[in-house]
Amino acid sequence: MANSWATLGVDLHLEPIGPGGLRRGLTDALRDAVRSGRLAPATRLPSSRSLAADLGIARNTVAEAYADLVAEGWLTARQGSGTRVAPGVPGGTERPAEPGTPTGSGTPTGSGTPAGTGTPAGPAQPARARPPRRTPVLRPAYDLVPGSPDLAAFPRTEWLKAARRALTTAPFHALGYGDPRGRPELRTALAGYLARARGVRADPGTIVITAGFSHALGILGGVLRARGVRTAAVESYGLDVHWALLRKAGLATPALPFDGFGTDPGEPGEAGAVLLTPAHQFPMGTALHPDRRAAVVAWARRTGGLVLEDDYDGEFRYDRQPVGALQGLAPDRVVYLGTASKSLAPGLRLGWMVLPPELAEEAVAAKGRVDTVGVLDQLTLADFLASGAYDRHVRSSRLRYRRRRDALAAAVAERAPEVRVTGIAAGLHAVLRLPPGTEESVVQAAAWQGLALHGLAFHRHPRAVADPLDALVVGYGTPPDSAWTGALDALCRALP
Ligand SMILES: Cc1ncc(COP(=O)(O)O)c(C=O)c1O
Repeated sequence: MANSWATLGVDLHLEPIGPGGLRRGLTDALRDAVRSGRLAPATRLPSSRSLAADLGIARNTVAEAYADLVAEGWLTARQGSGTRVAPGVPGGTERPAEPGTPTGSGTPTGSGTPAGTGTPAGPAQPARARPPRRTPVLRPAYDLVPGSPDLAAFPRTEWLKAARRALTTAPFHALGYGDPRGRPELRTALAGYLARARGVRADPGTIVITAGFSHALGILGGVLRARGVRTAAVESYGLDVHWALLRKAGLATPALPFDGFGTDPGEPGEAGAVLLTPAHQFPMGTALHPDRRAAVVAWARRTGGLVLEDDYDGEFRYDRQPVGALQGLAPDRVVYLGTASKSLAPGLRLGWMVLPPELAEEAVAAKGRVDTVGVLDQLTLADFLASGAYDRHVRSSRLRYRRRRDALAAAVAERAPEVRVTGIAAGLHAVLRLPPGTEESVVQAAAWQGLALHGLAFHRHPRAVADPLDALVVGYGTPPDSAWTGALDALCRALP
């Protein structure tokens, strides 16, 4: 039997034949159509009644085939929006799933699928074979990778108001090439905010606006290398993309020891600089011990070394006052690096560095002769800070993330008592300590549950000076509110 039908302008030739009967034949044919890209992600399928009529088969057969494919994650079925191809399944017209968006009830990540038994969305299969049940997810339904706040909570209305005010009041010459350090309005607003909220000693003249932390780190790597520095020590746990930026500038990046008190940067060997996350070690979550703060400052003063302070999520501290910036102790030896990536959104690409005066000129020269960061966003952020909207947004975000953190800790304590939730005094992620030797299998189980997340091994320096630990790094700030409960439930199902 061969029939054709059309959905949303897509003509599809479908042959529901095969050795296993009509239901099996139709299931295989639909799966093939999705896999080959003839049915694109999110395409709405005809109702079971009309497809049955088209194909001349019983409506129940179509309904059963749809149900099979929903259970396998190829399709989603939702009241009011019908049956659709699941977002993010692979095919010729692949369209990525919205991170953090559940793919619909009945998908492998929905609550109806028992742990490890559902076939995750979109496994690549040889034609007409049923997907083997052990293929890992290609397009996760829930994003628990740390690094992003809840983007659905971006303060659009307030940001738009700030943008309107900023553009209305900006002098016309603000739209020119301007100062390579960045707009003076933003540097002035940041100097005030950072002094008040983070204890940074900042002069607008030594602040340089960048396209996020990574841009600043690349600039600093070049400045350090040009000064003859050969080595910048980094933490035993962190982000390889950041270490790679330093290596790209020609610097060696050995690891500093990490122990029960966190990173120990006291004696970083031959290094001319150290890269640290003092307020909230990424990803382990410890604050740099007061003795070690003093020791690293003493080292920098004694040797002329520099501390690069990555204050990526310093605003988000829950149980007490935020830990103040290390830079406040030694503004002449510490470069303070901040970003809007956690407090607002990474897509803004806005960051800032507060430089020791002796470094300011070289850093500005390394950034370039014209400002490479868009003026309108800078003016908007300046207004956002000056109007108090930034403080209001941070305060309300803190409350929301704190609730999630508490829900995470409570759910894990109840459903996975062998797992210890650590590093949660601050930030938008937690470290879930696992029984020894289980990290890999739990990461795999999480993939089965449709979760994108990282094991601690992902963040471990290849030459880490630290005892091996088994853990998950869970970015609980990342999913939108609507997906958070589902993500937490899926996470608990993956835990031992
Ligand atoms: C440890 C750490 N530092 C800095 C950043 C911010 O980087 P950027 O400002 O380039 O987005 C992040 C974001 O994920 C981070 O995790």
